[in-house]
Amino acid sequence: MCGIVGYTGSKEAYPIIIKGLKRLEYRGYDSTGVALQNGRLKVYKKKGKVAELEDSLVGKNLHAHVGIGHTRWATHGEPNDRNAHPHSSASGKLAMIHNGIIENYAQLKQELIRKGYSFKSDTDTEVLLNFIEDIKTNNECSLEEAVRIALKRVVGAYVILLLDESMPDTIIAARKGSPLVIGIGKGEHFLGSDASPMLEYTKEVVYVNDYELAIIRPDELILKNLGNEKITPYVQKLDLELAAIEKGGYDHFMLKEIFEQPQTIYDCLRGRLDANAGTITMSGIQKYAEQIMNATRIIMVACGTSWHAGLVAEYIFEELCRINVEVEYASEFRYRNPVINPGDVIIAISQSGETADTLVAIETAKAKGAIILGVVNVVGSSIARVSHAGAYTHAGPEIGVASTKAFTAQLAVLTMIALKIAHDKGTISKERYMHLLNELNEVPEKVTRVLELSDHIKKLAEKYKDATDALYLGRGFNFPVALEGALKLKEISYIHAEGYPAAEMKHGPIALVDEKLPVIFVATKDSYHEKVVSNMQEIKARKGKLIAVITEGDDTTAAICNDVMAIPEADEVIAPILSAIPMQLLAYYIGVAKGYDVDKPRNLAKSVTVE
Ligand code: G6P
Repeated sequence: MCGIVGYTGSKEAYPIIIKGLKRLEYRGYDSTGVALQNGRLKVYKKKGKVAELEDSLVGKNLHAHVGIGHTRWATHGEPNDRNAHPHSSASGKLAMIHNGIIENYAQLKQELIRKGYSFKSDTDTEVLLNFIEDIKTNNECSLEEAVRIALKRVVGAYVILLLDESMPDTIIAARKGSPLVIGIGKGEHFLGSDASPMLEYTKEVVYVNDYELAIIRPDELILKNLGNEKITPYVQKLDLELAAIEKGGYDHFMLKEIFEQPQTIYDCLRGRLDANAGTITMSGIQKYAEQIMNATRIIMVACGTSWHAGLVAEYIFEELCRINVEVEYASEFRYRNPVINPGDVIIAISQSGETADTLVAIETAKAKGAIILGVVNVVGSSIARVSHAGAYTHAGPEIGVASTKAFTAQLAVLTMIALKIAHDKGTISKERYMHLLNELNEVPEKVTRVLELSDHIKKLAEKYKDATDALYLGRGFNFPVALEGALKLKEISYIHAEGYPAAEMKHGPIALVDEKLPVIFVATKDSYHEKVVSNMQEIKARKGKLIAVITEGDDTTAAICNDVMAIPEADEVIAPILSAIPMQLLAYYIGVAKGYDVDKPRNLAKSVTVE
């Protein structure tokens, strides 16, 4: 993980880097640092968020036209000033920032220690930097050459940016496994883990690929492979506006993103779903439509919230398409030598498109002959590029670390894919197909109505904020929504929460139930409803506090609950998109009521590019 920024040009580098780092804080925020090149290399770094570094530098002469900056999510070495990036080489003439993990750093470190090197930090980054410097000194070669030689020995993932005191206008960058974008300005270049640091300066960007090395000066961008052959940079136009990454009057990005959902779901359906004509058009999967339709098995591979979207999709695909679906944690799937059969289709679900475990999992499956279909939010991201086919979720930049609008957009896309397959395969009746198309079409408007619950849920948050534990229960399509509700609460409020299938609760979690435990049911009207209500009664009998997401007008269920959040009626296939939203709002308002930084919860990061 970690966010990286770089600038070389005629503007002042420091303000561009600091602003860029603030936009990349979603990638990690336990320490921050900048290196500025102004005849001499100056490095400033500090434990804490970007704003803390900024405060500590007020009044300093930070004049420079070239610089790099880093916001960290600790892997090797605890978050402190010493371990913060940039790191300086033994000679003090090189500075480097790094996003990723050098897996064989211990071995490289031993080699360097034998040569007399000592280390100021506990990081793998400082090891790699000194390894590069050692090669540069011994071979009397350029920094570029030394980086190339060093990277051939490195095992792991990285984006590195280097400054060399003897090359005052140059940044050397290289990538494998972590994202790197270069923005092309007039007589200036910008670098970032994503395009957000450069948005107000340029719309022309180059996405650097694995095993590529870039030499960047104000007027020049040279891209090479590790074999030292030049590559023509593929310049793409950014389709992203500044407003999309700003808070727009909301207190937090998370709240803004929750409230954006009517629009993001609409954007996701737009141009694809035509409820009147009865068509779903998904151009990104057209080429592989036949294979997907004839898949003997679909394996959903994802992490975190995206994994929950995969679980909902399992219910939908099996119900509508009659295809066997498995849902896998990417991190488990990739390490256990999975059986991939001809005809298997992998659906990789990822907001960022950069999650390392998901990326490697699909590369493994691809090598075994599977077709990879990416359901990804970030356009041009690694997972999108590795996939054979795909459908973007079009939710726009999601900045709050806890995923909200990306989740509902994933559900909308996965539902469309399932409906398309079911229709083409003939596993769904015409009436049901048309009904579900209409239901999906109505989702944005129904989401607007769900959001009207905001003030009510804020009051519930006040009432339940002091709970130490919470149980989230649901069945069928709503079981994964319960898991997602529990995850949201954990992430944002640090309250211990568990999601469970409502019936399975009898086999363990019921032992936790007492008069203090809030038990949140996702209990909308569906084919499981009566059974869920029985489970609610079981909780009530043990004096648990019953809170439920129910369907509007369901007074019978409301009557047994302490509190309810009533959402518009929807078909059970579609309902998770709606029932997820009260869960998001409840977690958000509890986190805020407890005074936490909901956009940047402790220890988490938005884009997990380490395994
Ligand atoms: C992190 C984020 C989660 C996200 C998960 C998977 O843990 O904090 O919000 O669900 O990564 O990320 P992806 O980008 O692959 O969806």
